[in-house]
Amino acid sequence: MSSPAIASAPLRPPGPRGLPWIGTSFMASRDSTRTLSRWARDYGDIVFYRFLDFPVYVLFHPQHVEQVLLGKTGNFVKGMTARANPELFGNGLLTSDGDFWRRQRRLSNPAFHRESIARYAEITVEEAAKLSQCWKAGETRNIHNDMMNVTLRIVLRSLFGTHLAEHMKIIEPALGAIMASSTGFNSIAFFLRIPTPKRKLHFLAVQRLNEVVYGLIARGREKLKSAESGLQTVGSQTGGGPQAATGAKDLLTLLLTARDDEGNSMSDQQLRDEVITLLLAGHETTALNLSWSWYLLAEHPEVERALHAELDAMLGGRAPSASDLPRLQYTDKVIRETLRLYPPAWRIFRRTEEVFQVGDYTLPAGSNIVLSQWVTQRDPRWFPEPDRFMPERWNEEAVAKLPRFAYFPFGGGPRVCIGAGFAMMEATLLLATIAQRFRLRLTPNQRITPMPSITLRPRHGIRVKLEERANTPVAADRANEAQASSA
Ligand code: HEM
Repeated sequence: MSSPAIASAPLRPPGPRGLPWIGTSFMASRDSTRTLSRWARDYGDIVFYRFLDFPVYVLFHPQHVEQVLLGKTGNFVKGMTARANPELFGNGLLTSDGDFWRRQRRLSNPAFHRESIARYAEITVEEAAKLSQCWKAGETRNIHNDMMNVTLRIVLRSLFGTHLAEHMKIIEPALGAIMASSTGFNSIAFFLRIPTPKRKLHFLAVQRLNEVVYGLIARGREKLKSAESGLQTVGSQTGGGPQAATGAKDLLTLLLTARDDEGNSMSDQQLRDEVITLLLAGHETTALNLSWSWYLLAEHPEVERALHAELDAMLGGRAPSASDLPRLQYTDKVIRETLRLYPPAWRIFRRTEEVFQVGDYTLPAGSNIVLSQWVTQRDPRWFPEPDRFMPERWNEEAVAKLPRFAYFPFGGGPRVCIGAGFAMMEATLLLATIAQRFRLRLTPNQRITPMPSITLRPRHGIRVKLEERANTPVAADRANEAQASSA
């Protein structure tokens, strides 16, 4: 007869055991996404593993994802997200918790309201047009580099009101070094603070980013000062308040002018953490969504044809704008489907502050939790033929049947991505502008594989050859222009 103590011992979910003393972690494997998928197949919806002293539960079922993301605020904190890379993100919006996070989120929200997004849409179309104008048919490009570059320009102009082209040369390689040092074994070495050559490169890259960001802050302060001195003159003449004269504020201005209850402004360190978070979260992810979209379009000519048909019918060769977004429905589906197959944020971490009941298990306070967009969004229970790129699956009827949180590329609940609206607008307008003019063909002899790091980058980039589309309204306009100028 078993003793009552044993009978009531909490059940532990199945999972890999790993090495004695060390345990295991999906983050240590070169192909972390594949490891997670294998665990889901071998052990089911709730998987337990231990890494050193850290007990970790991986939850794959949409219902369990919902319990975490919509759970009692305060019970689920960021945990490993904050611990994994404190030098980079510091205590910014992505990593902070509690009342401090709430205050910072409230402060940043206005920069993502509808009117602000409409302003960013104009910048997006301008930058997309500039990019496609300097492309030439027949040339070969790394489309991932192009997308990183254009989304960085857009975020710098939109959120920080600056071009700073000279700084792009610093930000891009620094980010590359950071991502390369945050994969597989390196990410574990980071977590444990083990010095490795990659870690040294990582710190150098963070230092370079810091220089750029402190420069952005200093410029923002200067701009504000001169606006305020100009304002005093204007205000004394017209009686208008600061808002009347400055109009909508960019994010940096909002952060610079914010005051806490005692009237204190943010320290330079806090400003740096917020700016770096927005700068990185605001362009890396959207660039990846676009890079993977071009890859999937090149691999699926029938989808590409349907996309071109929509663009030709809806835009007829003119530049798109924010008001076209509701009509570009197929374009939207292409982006959604790409976010399903290649989610730029491919896993989410949390730590429980209290006991948490999930399925048949009781997780003690202090448990680490992993949710994986990569696995859940490729689960055949929710998505038939899950590995197939099928934008058509996003029809109303199928969407209505989908369990909530079977698809969560932007997370959910109070910590949902603050930039989701911005990102969808940006991806749609960039794709629409470029695809009106060009068809992108993958060059032969390249292996395109995802590199699971902080985000999901293509490991070796994506090389494409540009083909100008013939018989489109854009091409017809160009031919007419050429004829007119030669006449
Ligand atoms: C396709 C593009 C994007 C994807 C897939 C994405 C994904 C995500 C996800 C999954 C989260 C939640 C993380 C968690 O719960 O731990 C998140 C949070 C966040 N994202 Fe995005 N994001 C994208 C674009 C953007 C853009 C354009 C911005 C800003 C301009 C941005 C800024 C942020 C910030 C600041 C947070 C933290 C929000 C908070 O905790 O209050 N993201 N993003």
